[in-house]
Amino acid sequence: MFNSLFQLGSLTVPNRVLLSPLAGVSDAPFRRICQEMGAGLTYIEMLSAAGMPHENRKTGELLYRDPAEPILGAQMTGATPEIMARGAEILMQRDLPIETLDINMGCPVKKIVSRGCGSAIVKDPKRAGDILRTTREAVSVPVTAKIRIGFTQHDHTVEAVCRELALAGTEMLTIHGRTRDDGYSAPVRYDRIQEGFAAADAAAVDGRFGKSATGTCLISLPPGPWPN
Ligand SMILES: Cc1cc2nc3c(=O)[nH]c(=O)nc-3n(C[C@H](O)[C@H](O)[C@H](O)COP(=O)(O)O)c2cc1C
Repeated sequence: MFNSLFQLGSLTVPNRVLLSPLAGVSDAPFRRICQEMGAGLTYIEMLSAAGMPHENRKTGELLYRDPAEPILGAQMTGATPEIMARGAEILMQRDLPIETLDINMGCPVKKIVSRGCGSAIVKDPKRAGDILRTTREAVSVPVTAKIRIGFTQHDHTVEAVCRELALAGTEMLTIHGRTRDDGYSAPVRYDRIQEGFAAADAAAVDGRFGKSATGTCLISLPPGPWPN
């Protein structure tokens, strides 16, 4: 199951083992170890779209690709379609290069959320879709999104967000089966993950997008129905 090719839009990933972007962890040496152990797609640490026009030292350090890395993705977060698209454009002008871009709509950190980024984006499904659509128009690589099932435990927006992202043409949808308020410890809501994918499937224009779920494990599947 994990050894077959994975199509992410125009990008062929050699297997279905993905290393999620991990802030403070997934630097180039760590990625190289994971690639050598078989990871088909790895990502650089999350970038801030708002920070891209005036790149600081920390961002500069993150923007490094070891020449031996076979495929590399980036992850970025931005509060508005315009900020996100501009940040993505600047990233693409860098000589990294990267093969795919994931939009972070799940980070729970206060500093990120207070700026309308990360998991704050799932409060507003339409904005989530607009951010993805505008970013797709700005770059030539496949664009994907990673979301949480909602912001608070009482307000699960997962279905509406998945619908908007599918309509906006995401190439892959990763659902972290917790809300922002759940942090990393609450039980994972596999039922809500399933409902999110069902909503996306119903809305997807051509029905073709990858699916992956995270929360205590990570599963990636090719386009098609999510198994029961
Ligand atoms: C230290 C750490 C850093 C993380 N950084 C990111 C990140 O930059 N982007 C992201 O999408 N998820 C990030 N995550 C979330 C994980 O990718 C994963 O979705 C989450 O931990 C849920 O899975 P788990 O219950 O197995 O931990 C991070 C998680 C940890 C523990």
